[in-house]
Amino acid sequence: MPIQFDEKIQCFHLSNQQISYIIGIEKNCYLTHRYWGKALPSYAGSNQLQLIDRGFATNPLPEERTFSLNSLPLETSTQGNGDHRIANYQIRSHHGHDVTDFHYHAYIISKGKSAIPGLPSLHATTSEVTTLEIILKDAVQQLEMRLIYTLFENYPILTRRAVYANLSDTMVALENAGSMSIDLAESQFDLITLDGSHTNEANITRQAIRSGIHRIESTRGTSSPQHQPFLALTTPYTSEFQGEVFAFHFIYSGNFIAQVELEQYGTTRVQLGIHPDHFEWQLKPNDYFYTPEVVLNYSTQGLNGMSQTFHQLYQEHLVPINWSKKERPILLNTWEANYFELSEQELIKQAHKAAEVGIELFVLDDGWFGERHTDTSSLGDWFVNQDKFPNGIHTLAREVHRLGMQFGLWFEPEMISKQSHLFQQHPDWALQVPSYPLTEGRQQSVLDLSRPDVQEHLITTLTDYLKTGNIDYIKWDMNRHLTEVGSSFFATNQQKEIGHRYVLGLYQILEVLTTRFPNCLFENCSSGGGRFDPGMMYYMPQTWTSDNSDALCRSIIQYGYSYLYPPIMMGAHVSTTPNHQVGRVTPLETRGWLAMSGNFGYELDLQTLSKEELQTVHQQIIFYQTHRQLFQFGKFYRLQAPNSHFASGWLFMNDEEAIAIYFNGLSRPALPTNYLKMHYLDNEALYEDVTTKQQYSGAELNQAGVLIPRVKEDFYTHVFHWKKKYS
Ligand code: DGJ
Repeated sequence: MPIQFDEKIQCFHLSNQQISYIIGIEKNCYLTHRYWGKALPSYAGSNQLQLIDRGFATNPLPEERTFSLNSLPLETSTQGNGDHRIANYQIRSHHGHDVTDFHYHAYIISKGKSAIPGLPSLHATTSEVTTLEIILKDAVQQLEMRLIYTLFENYPILTRRAVYANLSDTMVALENAGSMSIDLAESQFDLITLDGSHTNEANITRQAIRSGIHRIESTRGTSSPQHQPFLALTTPYTSEFQGEVFAFHFIYSGNFIAQVELEQYGTTRVQLGIHPDHFEWQLKPNDYFYTPEVVLNYSTQGLNGMSQTFHQLYQEHLVPINWSKKERPILLNTWEANYFELSEQELIKQAHKAAEVGIELFVLDDGWFGERHTDTSSLGDWFVNQDKFPNGIHTLAREVHRLGMQFGLWFEPEMISKQSHLFQQHPDWALQVPSYPLTEGRQQSVLDLSRPDVQEHLITTLTDYLKTGNIDYIKWDMNRHLTEVGSSFFATNQQKEIGHRYVLGLYQILEVLTTRFPNCLFENCSSGGGRFDPGMMYYMPQTWTSDNSDALCRSIIQYGYSYLYPPIMMGAHVSTTPNHQVGRVTPLETRGWLAMSGNFGYELDLQTLSKEELQTVHQQIIFYQTHRQLFQFGKFYRLQAPNSHFASGWLFMNDEEAIAIYFNGLSRPALPTNYLKMHYLDNEALYEDVTTKQQYSGAELNQAGVLIPRVKEDFYTHVFHWKKKYS
């Protein structure tokens, strides 16, 4: 059994071939964290707890002066009785106090994993996972806390979440409802996070932890482009290729907090959960509060090892099952070619050109509805603009289908413009706080998705489009953060629930639509990677990675996101030059390789390209189609992180072939000789260069590497392509 309870030493041992995770019960009351790391064949408690009567220690058990909650490595924090480190939860009693004392009560071990009501989470069959529920009770207030652990059989993966329950007959208030807390025994860690901004997402930040608290967070209503809801602790010597990594990723799309505290006696506490600021939940008698799931990923193979696990796990156990192995079409998106200037005639011309070069999915972006001539109006009015499309959207869709392509349409369903019919009819449908003006972002307000009538309206609107069968793809955009987070639908004492209720409302809408239309490909977008998180990926198998489509910037952004997401999840388009975001001119070939390193597409007016350029585009499409299995379902490894002149490299490989892409960045004289080592090819196999037909052993390419030839040109891309041969 992968999860066992040892009565003698009062420990739970969760273990598969790769990892062990051990939880102790102390004094029949409190849970301690005893071990997480490489699999142990057995555990007998060699790493005993340090029990000393320390200065300033407080003791929850009478006369036990060496037993203090402030220095034990705990499996969850405690409240008001001596654990003074960062808190994972906080409950206010109906008398107004914030003290609880949860004691161990019972446990349940079962095969499988249940879905979390209203929330996305990893999915798995009964035989693939085992779940442990530890039940803790506060006898004074009759409260219950369940810590839920699911161990995956074939991955170094454990998930954690908590459920808070009120079993009394009076209301209590959940002021903080974290998903997990863990105290690791070590203190020599580097902390890695992915940080950034709009058009500059997923920059890798790495710093040694120091005494005190490190925190990343979002209070913006969405997970945000500022910080990915992720952190990793690594040993200082961990690299892409080797070393230990403890990674945490939160399956949630709203406000979050992820923090690390290095405390006085060298223990490192890690916590993730819904952000407690702007949050409070009225927990009624006999009610449960379910927190989102955290994925805990352990690697001894460095950061590439961590990423391999995330990539495979998310493809198999996060995205909708029917999309996990489904090839994705090469798309052309109309945004950067047209912005709001759309006409049926012109788009049909663009669609003809697209079909000629081999595009498979034609996506009509913003500007097709209401009076949407700029970004100042019409969100919510999801009916076609008759001046731009006199024959309706469906005529265009049918023409695109006739040309042999699929048809996709852009929506920003969560928004409402003041200048819209929807706002005139339902001003109360915007998120709002009485008497305060609506703060606008991109001249738009946010719909109150906590309201069931708003949810129903969006479900009906989208269903009406999708049920025609003309729409194969939806780009679900979301272009601002939340302000005046209040709702006229809910009681005064529930107003701090609205941030979370918004996310639950969004998930409810997505659940209905993606279940009703499983074959429609949904692409997640929030001005690019503004809400690129595992919560959204549960419903939508791909994301528009960034509004920055410049090849050089993309090499950095995609490199960062690849810590967590495989290339198939990251929309990447060849756009025009000079690039619209940064004005940079890069070769079409390089733009192609960078876009092929994600989920491949185009976003430019093909009619403006020369004959030669169109030929290149056509060749890129044929190449990608021929090697789509490799690019979309092969393994992806990072080989060289972007350096001071922006050069970086990565590898795609499967059982048949391998492609290494080296982006040269800025050309510089006197560069040191550079051999790019492949690290991950099959040592035993032979690899034949597809151009020269020269054969090399995998071991040679892995260890000796290939010379990166000198090129006197900025933004050049070297590509090495081998067929795998078995000797
Ligand atoms: C932001 C998206 O990221 C862009 O790709 C585009 O769809 C615009 N919104 C449209 O307003």
